[in-house]
Amino acid sequence: MQKLDTRIFGTTEKDIKNAAAILKEGGLVAFPTETVYGLGANAMDDEAVGKVYAAKGRPSDNPMIVHIADEEDLYQLTYEITADMRALMEAFWPGALTMVVPARPEVSRVTTGGLDTVAVRMPDNEVTLNLIREAKLPLAGPSANLSGKPSPTTAMHVFDDLKGRIDAVIQGEPCKVGIESTVVDMTGEVPMILRPGIITREKLSEALGKEVTIDPAILKKPDTFNNDGLLETGEDYKPKAPGMKYKHYAPKAEMIVFVGEPEKVRLAIAAEKMERVEFGQKVGVLMFDNSNPEKAAHDFFAELRAFDKSGVDVIFAAALAEDGVGLAVMNRMFKSAGYNIREVK
Ligand code: TXA
Ligand code: MG
Repeated sequence: MQKLDTRIFGTTEKDIKNAAAILKEGGLVAFPTETVYGLGANAMDDEAVGKVYAAKGRPSDNPMIVHIADEEDLYQLTYEITADMRALMEAFWPGALTMVVPARPEVSRVTTGGLDTVAVRMPDNEVTLNLIREAKLPLAGPSANLSGKPSPTTAMHVFDDLKGRIDAVIQGEPCKVGIESTVVDMTGEVPMILRPGIITREKLSEALGKEVTIDPAILKKPDTFNNDGLLETGEDYKPKAPGMKYKHYAPKAEMIVFVGEPEKVRLAIAAEKMERVEFGQKVGVLMFDNSNPEKAAHDFFAELRAFDKSGVDVIFAAALAEDGVGLAVMNRMFKSAGYNIREVK
């Protein structure tokens, strides 16, 4: 891959114009959103999105989310706005919700990983909305990290991973949410959550006035990965969002998730930490407040990256309850640990 001189843009009008020009020429620009930073390219251009897979080292069957700025942009990507889509757009856009809908033929099949559906989101970030409007392009935008690493919540995280591999990064604010959007499949009778996020099943049901299901694969905890970092996809694990099957978000250190009653988990982590320290290991501990899963979501990826920087040998993480936003945090936590789980009795 050719080494690029990655530019760092601010958020002035001139910066946005320059960034938009790069995108129009088929280049790659990382952009801020409220969830995590995205790596943008023209979603309608096979060659441009092809470069995104290469820059991230991402498997090409893993489709990307397309970012739009205005409701009208949807008609470039799909055919109609159904009543359910309308209800969710009104309740949550701009915001941390992605809808999977039928894709028009004009949408690059490189963007959709060969699928005839496309994932669409309107991010809640003024700078990026202006960028999309200025470029007049729907932006394919996976998280702007190297594939397999923790998602980036600051421009610096993006730079650490993708310097020399992308044309530019826009240095906006740190991400408010901290984990990626909720992905909902809108193509069936009943909407189905393919990836949990801060917009929970309960909130979706409330906005739609009906039940929403969760892809059962999300709740499974497979414990093996093959050499390609793929989960051993047995009968019982076939997630509908292709990206959910890959090993993800992994810090450099070994990571163990301690599951059990919070007080017992706290004691187990303290005891194991003492042992490891005696062996001369550097131990990182992640213990979030169960009553504030939003804060855990906000800090999670940044903490993993901080542990990478400080060179810990092992990370002990205390599990949160798997409901509401806690489900979304735990989905990331189990994956980052490669499902290395310690049950505390
Ligand atoms: O918050 C977010 O969603 C961030 C920011 C940048 O917007 N983006 C993000 O993109 O997390 P990415 O590419 O890292 O994750 C996209 C997820 C993957 O799990 C992918 O498999 C799934 O969405 N996905 C995308 N298109 C899909 C489709 N047509 N059908 C099913 N799943 C899809
Ligand atoms: Mg990602």
